This record gives sequence, structure tokens and C-alpha cells, in this order.
Amino acid sequence: MAKPDISLRAAMLVALGALIVAIGLALAAPVRASSPADSLPNARPGQGTEAYCLSCHGQPDLSMTLPDGEALSLYVSRQTLDASIHSPLGIECQACHTDIKTYPHPAIDYANRRELSRSYYLACRKCHSDNYEKSLDSMHARAAQAGNANAPICTDCHGAHDVRPPDQPRSHISETCGKCHTQILADYRNSIHGSALIEQGNPDVPVCTDCHGVHNIQDPRTAQFRIETPDLCAGCHANSELMSKYGLSADVYNLYNISWHGVDVSVYKANWPTIWHESAVCTDCHGIHNILATGNPASQVNPVNLLATCRKCHADAGPNWVDAWTGHNRISPRRTPFLYTVEQFYSTFASLVLWLSVIYVVLQIIRAVAGRVRRSLR
Ligand code: HEC
Ligand code: HEC
Ligand code: HEC
Ligand code: HEC
Ligand code: HEC
Ligand code: HEC
Ligand code: HEC
Ligand code: HEC
Ligand code: HEC
Repeated sequence: MAKPDISLRAAMLVALGALIVAIGLALAAPVRASSPADSLPNARPGQGTEAYCLSCHGQPDLSMTLPDGEALSLYVSRQTLDASIHSPLGIECQACHTDIKTYPHPAIDYANRRELSRSYYLACRKCHSDNYEKSLDSMHARAAQAGNANAPICTDCHGAHDVRPPDQPRSHISETCGKCHTQILADYRNSIHGSALIEQGNPDVPVCTDCHGVHNIQDPRTAQFRIETPDLCAGCHANSELMSKYGLSADVYNLYNISWHGVDVSVYKANWPTIWHESAVCTDCHGIHNILATGNPASQVNPVNLLATCRKCHADAGPNWVDAWTGHNRISPRRTPFLYTVEQFYSTFASLVLWLSVIYVVLQIIRAVAGRVRRSLR
């Protein structure tokens, strides 16, 4: 008879323990950092609705006709959901479709496919409010405000039922932007950066969002963006560890900064960042989305094309113009022997003259002092 008693007491102790832990967790909850899942009343919003909704929407031929006459498939596949990030986390249908609880559903408030998307994507805001807030000030949001219904919303880039980590593989990022910016993606794909990313899966090269940002994309054609381009490139091209992997000089940024163009640009950056200035930035010489290796004959800075590139701004530059320019190179006896000799001559000559004059002045002083002493002794 004693045995059941002990197990009853044990069970009560376990229950009490569980209660204390639960109260502890409840008290601790408000001080935990909030993650998207926490920002809703219960941590598994909409959970348990998948089975119910899929009892109809799991049928491949379920469809409806939109008010504009277009047919809309209402099939939501189990496989798609399983491969998405949300469903396995327990974020199910009603977490997003909050106002659909049973069948028949509430009346719809959209007339076509695009309006449907623009009406439902707002569900993302509930849990990802930070990204939503950021996007309000972007070029894409401004295009939407100006009446462009095709300006991208969350679901254009991420999908709805098939949301996955957006940067896996990394090339997926550039391909996402390229769905609409097709010409830019085509140029980028052929560039030294894009081909390394897409063909070789190289993670060291920039994707669209490294230069433009993601949810808060700003206008890249302003004076301010232009004047900051060298810093954008410097993030990688001034990193000697990264550049040595590719046998590239990491001095290009430093030498640019002491060149005429670079000094000019830094003066504008410091004083008048919003005034448009033509002095050459990296992209004027190298291209933007179509940057090629300098040895590629199609590169804008390849010796075959360099003069034409300078002439975009220096219209009357003659053929000697580029030869006299040292580019990103320090003056060296190997590359630029003439300049090197002239520079060596001047630096030796100038310091020689300086030292001779110092010695001359010192001798004069000694002579004057000695003269005065001699006079006073007389
Ligand atoms: C009994 C079957 C059935 C169930 C259960 C069901 N639906 Fe539907 N659903 C339909 C049909 C049929 C339509 C086509 C339009 C209509 O008849 O209202 C539809 C249309 C839709 C639409 C597109 C029209 C709209 O309202 O924007 C969405 C979204 C939707 N369902 C979501 C859900 C969600 C979420 C659930 C689970 C909470 C669910 N459905 C449960 C049958 C069902
Ligand atoms: C992460 C949020 C989210 C979840 C979870 C979700 N939906 Fe949706 N659903 C959306 C969005 C956003 C749209 C609009 C899609 C678009 O722009 O094409 C949509 C559209 C739909 C449509 C209209 C047809 C279509 O594919 O565009 C149906 C039907 C639907 N959802 C049913 C469901 C069902 C059933 C579930 C659960 C199995 C579910 N949804 C889970 C966000 C969600
Ligand atoms: C009910 C809350 C909830 C809703 C609604 C919701 N999400 Fe999520 N989402 C989460 C959680 C939780 C995660 C996983 C945690 C994390 O990685 O931040 C997540 C992850 C993601 C990720 C992957 C993040 C990464 O780092 O890999 C993307 C992208 C995403 N959501 C986009 C969306 C989009 C687009 C919508 C609208 C169609 C949406 N979410 C609606 C809660 C939500
Ligand atoms: C123009 C395309 C685009 C739009 C529109 C967009 N995203 Fe993203 N989003 C991306 C890309 C690309 C990444 C990955 C960026 C990276 O890793 O550099 C990303 C990353 C994310 C992440 C994971 C990283 C993070 O910042 O937490 C979440 C969550 C997310 N987006 C949610 C949203 C939501 C919610 C919306 C709508 C308000 C939205 N996105 C609109 C392209 C977009
Ligand atoms: C669904 C289509 C779509 C996708 C996806 C998209 N964009 Fe856009 N983007 C647009 C539209 C539309 C505009 C506004 C163009 C206009 O007003 O002329 C725009 C404007 C821009 C601008 C401002 C320059 C301009 O022409 O106004 C930049 C920069 C930009 N997008 C970069 C990106 C990047 C980076 C991504 C990926 C993270 C991306 N876009 C994904 C459609 C898209
Ligand atoms: C290495 C940095 C860099 C990368 C990577 C990059 N961009 Fe740009 N992008 C720029 C700069 C700089 C400008 C400004 C060009 C100008 O002055 O006209 C620009 C301009 C733009 C514009 C507006 C002007 C136009 O030509 O229509 C869009 C849209 C754009 N980029 C989209 C993209 C997309 C999409 C990708 C990825 C496939 C991408 N960018 C990758 C630096 C970059
Ligand atoms: C995220 C890092 C990153 C950013 C940002 C970046 N690059 Fe690069 N760039 C690389 C890497 C890595 C390579 C080498 C790729 C290879 O050889 O496969 C490269 C190659 C190049 C080359 C070819 C050099 C040669 O002759 O082989 C040029 C030119 C170049 N970048 C210019 C630029 C300019 C201009 C910018 C700014 C608009 C820029 N890059 C921004 C990482 C970057
Ligand atoms: C985007 C326009 C642009 C491009 C391309 C450009 N420059 Fe310049 N360059 C300028 C501007 C603007 C100045 C400054 C003029 C001033 O401050 O008065 C300048 C100044 C100079 C100067 C010093 C002042 C002078 O006029 O003699 C030299 C040398 C020079 N550039 C060489 C070149 C060479 C070589 C190339 C091609 C490899 C080139 N530039 C490409 C715009 C450009
Ligand atoms: C006035 C034109 C001009 C400007 C501005 C310019 N470059 Fe160059 N760049 C060249 C030329 C010409 C070459 C090839 C000859 C050489 O190496 O000097 C070159 C070569 C390079 C190389 C290849 C170096 C190597 O080791 O082979 C990289 C990387 C590069 N530039 C990046 C940049 C970056 C980043 C900026 C801005 C900070 C920039 N360039 C500004 C004209 C320019």
C-alpha cells in the first residue's frame, strides 16, 4: 500500500517543481531580449492551424477567380512549407492570415494579383517591424508612393509561403535584385566581381546589398553617394590581407587619396558633400556594375581604352596625357624610370641646397660672433 503513496508524493513534488520553474520563467520573460517570435502574445502564433487550413488548401486543384478575371491557384504545398523557415518554427497560417479563421472566409478587398500581394505582405510587419520601418524610407518605398505598384515589397524578394534564409547561397542576394534590375544583373554577371560570385561562389566579392544596403536602399546617383564611393571600394581594396589573396595592390586607395582627383574629392567631402563634383572617383575609371580585370582588353582602364576614359572629362587630353600619369603606382625605377630620376634628382638636390644654406648660415653666425669677440678684446 505504501508504494502508490510514494509515487503520488513524487508526482506532486514534480508538479510543484514545474510550477516554480513556470512562475520563474514567466517572471523572467519581460527582461529577455525580444526576438520576432516574442513580439506576439503567444510564442507560437497560429500554431495548429496548418492541418485545418490544408484540409482544403492542400488540394492541388483548389482555385478561385479574381475580380479582374484572372484565375488564382489556392494550393499551398506541404513540401514548400516544410522547406520554409517559418512553418518548422511553428509559425503557421493564422500567424499571417490573422483575419481568416474558418470557412467561409471574410470578403476580399483586392481586385487583382498585385493588390492581393500588396494587401497580404503587411503581415510580415507584425514580427519584422524593424525591417519594415527601415524600408519606409527606401527608394523602393518612394517608387511605390509615386504610384509604381511593381516597386518591391517583402514578398517579391522573400516569397510568402517559401521564405528561406535570403543569403544562402550568397549569390542568391544578387539574383534576387536581378529579378527586376535585369540589365544590371547581366552587366554584373560578366564583371570581375559578379563572375567570381556566380561562377566560383567566391564570398569575398561584393553583392548588390554590400554597396546599396538592403531594406533602406538610397538613391545612388546623389552627390553624396558619389563622393563616398571610394570608401565603399576601400572596404575591400584597402584590406591588404584580402587583396594579397588575389595578388592585387592594396595601395590603390591610399595612392588615390594623394592623387589630384582624390585630394579634390576629399576636399569636397569635407566641405561641400552635397555639391555635385566631377573629379574622378573609382567608378568613373573602372565602371560600376561592369568592372573588369585591368588586364582584360575590354576594361575601361586597359591601356587600349584608357585615353578614351580620361577624355570623358578631359576632352582635349592628348596621347601623352596618360603616359605622364602614374596611376595607382608609386614612382619606381622599374615602371617610371624618367619620373624616378627626376624625383631622385630633386629630392637629393633640394636637401643638398638646404644643408648647404644651413651650414652657410651657421658659419656666418660663428664669423659674426668671433668678429664681435675679437673687437671687444681689442
Ligand atoms: C473548407 C475548406 C477551406 C478551409 C478549411 C480553408 N479555406 Fe481558404 N479558401 C477556401 C476556398 C473554397 C477559397 C476560395 C474563395 C472563397 O470561396 O472564399 C479559399 C480562399 C482562401 C484565400 C484567398 C481568398 C482570400 O480570402 O483572400 C486565402 C488567403 C485562404 N483561403 C486562406 C485560408 C486559411 C489561412 C485557412 C485556415 C485558417 C483556410 N483558408 C481554410 C476553402 C477553405
Ligand atoms: C509568413 C506568413 C504567411 C504564412 C505563415 C502563410 N501565409 Fe498564406 N499568404 C501570405 C502572403 C504574404 C500571401 C500573399 C502572397 C503573394 O503575394 O503572392 C499569402 C497568400 C495566400 C493565399 C492566396 C494564394 C497565393 O498563394 O497567393 C492562400 C490560399 C494562402 N496564403 C493560404 C495559406 C495557408 C493555407 C497557410 C498555412 C498552411 C498560409 N497561407 C500561411 C503569408 C502567409
Ligand atoms: C509570427 C511572426 C512572423 C511573421 C508574421 C513573419 N515572420 Fe519571418 N521570421 C519569424 C521568426 C521567428 C523567424 C526566425 C528567427 C530569425 O531568424 O529571425 C523568421 C525568419 C525570417 C527570415 C529569415 C531570416 C534569416 O536570418 O535567415 C526571413 C527572410 C523572414 N522571416 C521574412 C518574413 C516575411 C517576408 C514575412 C511575411 C510574408 C514574415 N517573415 C512573417 C517570425 C515571423
Ligand atoms: C528588394 C528586396 C527586398 C525587400 C523588398 C525586402 N527584403 Fe528582406 N532581405 C533582402 C535581402 C537580399 C536580404 C539578405 C541581405 C544580406 O544578407 O546581406 C534580406 C534580409 C532579410 C532578413 C534577415 C536579416 C535581417 O535583417 O534580419 C529579414 C528578417 C528580412 N529581410 C525581412 C524582410 C521584411 C519583413 C521585408 C518587408 C518589410 C523585407 N525583408 C523586404 C531583400 C529584401
Ligand atoms: C520587384 C522588382 C524589384 C526588385 C526585386 C528590386 N528592385 Fe530595385 N527598384 C525597383 C523599382 C520599380 C525601382 C524604382 C525605379 C524607378 O522609380 O525608376 C527600383 C529602384 C532601385 C534603386 C534606385 C535607383 C533607381 O533607379 O531609382 C536601387 C539602387 C535599387 N532599386 C536597388 C535594388 C537592390 C539592391 C535590390 C535587391 C536587394 C533591388 N533593387 C530589388 C524594382 C525592384
Ligand atoms: C561595388 C559596388 C556596387 C555593387 C556591387 C552594385 N552596385 Fe549598383 N551602383 C553602384 C554605384 C556606385 C552606383 C551609382 C552609379 C551612378 O553614379 O550612376 C550604382 C547604381 C545603381 C542603380 C541606379 C542607377 C542605374 O544604373 O540604374 C541601380 C538600380 C543599382 N545600382 C542596382 C544594383 C544591383 C541590382 C546590383 C547587384 C546585381 C548592384 N547595383 C551592385 C555600386 C554598386
Ligand atoms: C566586398 C569586397 C569588395 C568591394 C566592396 C569591391 N571589390 Fe573590387 N574586388 C574584390 C575582390 C575580392 C576582387 C578579386 C576578384 C578575383 O580576382 O576573382 C576584386 C577585383 C576588382 C578589380 C579587378 C582587379 C584586377 O585587375 O584583377 C577591380 C578593378 C576592382 N575590384 C574595383 C573595385 C571598385 C572600383 C570597387 C568600388 C566601386 C570595388 N572593386 C569594390 C572585392 C571587392
Ligand atoms: C569623371 C571625370 C574625370 C575623369 C574620368 C578623369 N578626370 Fe582627371 N580630373 C577631373 C577633374 C574634375 C579634375 C580637377 C580639375 C580641377 O580641380 O580644376 C581632374 C584633374 C586631373 C589632373 C590634374 C590637373 C590637370 O588638369 O592637369 C590630372 C593630371 C588628371 N586629372 C588626369 C587624369 C587621367 C590621366 C585620367 C584618365 C586615366 C583622368 N584624369 C580621368 C575629372 C576627371
Ligand atoms: C583616373 C582613373 C582611375 C581612378 C579614379 C581609379 N583607378 Fe584604379 N586603376 C586605374 C588604372 C589605369 C589601372 C591600371 C594601371 C595601374 O595599376 O595603375 C587601375 C588599377 C586598379 C586596380 C588593379 C590593381 C592591381 O594590383 O592590379 C584596382 C584594384 C583598382 N584600380 C581599384 C581602384 C579603386 C578602389 C579606386 C578608388 C579608390 C580606383 N581604382 C580609382 C585607373 C583609375
